[in-house]
Amino acid sequence: MNLEELISTYNLTGRTIVVTGGTGILGGEIACALVDWGANVAILDRNLEPAQALLERMGAGAGRAAAFHGDVLDLDSLRQAAEAITERFGRIDGLVNAAGGNKPQATTGPDVSFFDLPSDALRWVFDLNLFGTVLPCQVFGKFMAQQGVGVILNISSVNTFRPLTRIPAYSAAKAGVSNFTQWLAVHMAQKYSPQIRVNAIAPGFFLTSQNEYLLTDTQTGKLTARGQSIIEHTPMSRFGKPEDLLGAVLWLLSPASAFVTGVVVPIDGGFSAYSGV
Ligand SMILES: NC(=O)c1ccc[n+]([C@@H]2O[C@H](COP(=O)([O-])OP(=O)(O)OC[C@H]3O[C@@H](n4cnc5c(N)ncnc54)[C@H](OP(=O)(O)O)[C@@H]3O)[C@@H](O)[C@H]2O)c1
Repeated sequence: MNLEELISTYNLTGRTIVVTGGTGILGGEIACALVDWGANVAILDRNLEPAQALLERMGAGAGRAAAFHGDVLDLDSLRQAAEAITERFGRIDGLVNAAGGNKPQATTGPDVSFFDLPSDALRWVFDLNLFGTVLPCQVFGKFMAQQGVGVILNISSVNTFRPLTRIPAYSAAKAGVSNFTQWLAVHMAQKYSPQIRVNAIAPGFFLTSQNEYLLTDTQTGKLTARGQSIIEHTPMSRFGKPEDLLGAVLWLLSPASAFVTGVVVPIDGGFSAYSGV
């Protein structure tokens, strides 16, 4: 394969891709890039207010994008969204599971021990990250199984390789997402079609609403001790920027990675490779 042929495999033109959590920081960045790369994009989120700004950001490409209400924890709402998406775009070729997150109530701290973390907060985090990935795979993956072709990209976390302190539910839930990614990759390939691929990315630290309260002091904006420690343990010495994800996202969603399934790719500036010594 020559370079021109290879480059031509990085192509999503005409593919319809659903992005859950599509109005969030990382999901929104991915949705805008997908439109730029020629895909039709279904932005799915439970709150569509920020979608208008995203569509404006997409400029001329916005004609190939639309926002759909959907709760990743509610099968009926996902099925309704799938119906509306296929009505609009005709088919579903890909799914990016970008809905997820953590919450302060499920985080240990100087005044809150692990033993006192409320179970409803722990369950909320498990549900959003793990079930919020499994349920969209059931609903949108079914279309791929019927077509015999499709691609799913889950969003795990560096927590999956070694858990971070203070966030037990988030770490365990993301480890579940990575494990489920491998499981579903095998299941789809063996039971339905080797042309259905399932992979994940594992971002390191990107300053967003889910972790800002842990990494920066809300009053001064300066790094907390934890934020500083992360930078010290990141060989590239910085937090990630949402656009740092895009190269791997395009690779994993496009035919450029046609023989890649069941992998979890860290995008973390070397954090997961560094022993700290
Ligand atoms: N930021 C990081 O450093 C980092 C690192 C590793 C992994 N990740 C993962 O990357 C993904 C995106 O994170 P992000 O930083 O972009 O967070 P974000 O900005 O909070 O985006 C998450 C989006 O998911 C939506 N959402 C939450 N619950 C939902 C539900 N039940 N149904 C549908 N949508 C729902 C949120 O809506 P609301 O605004 O209404 O809650 C939000 O729009 C998450 O899985 C996160 O765990 C992030």
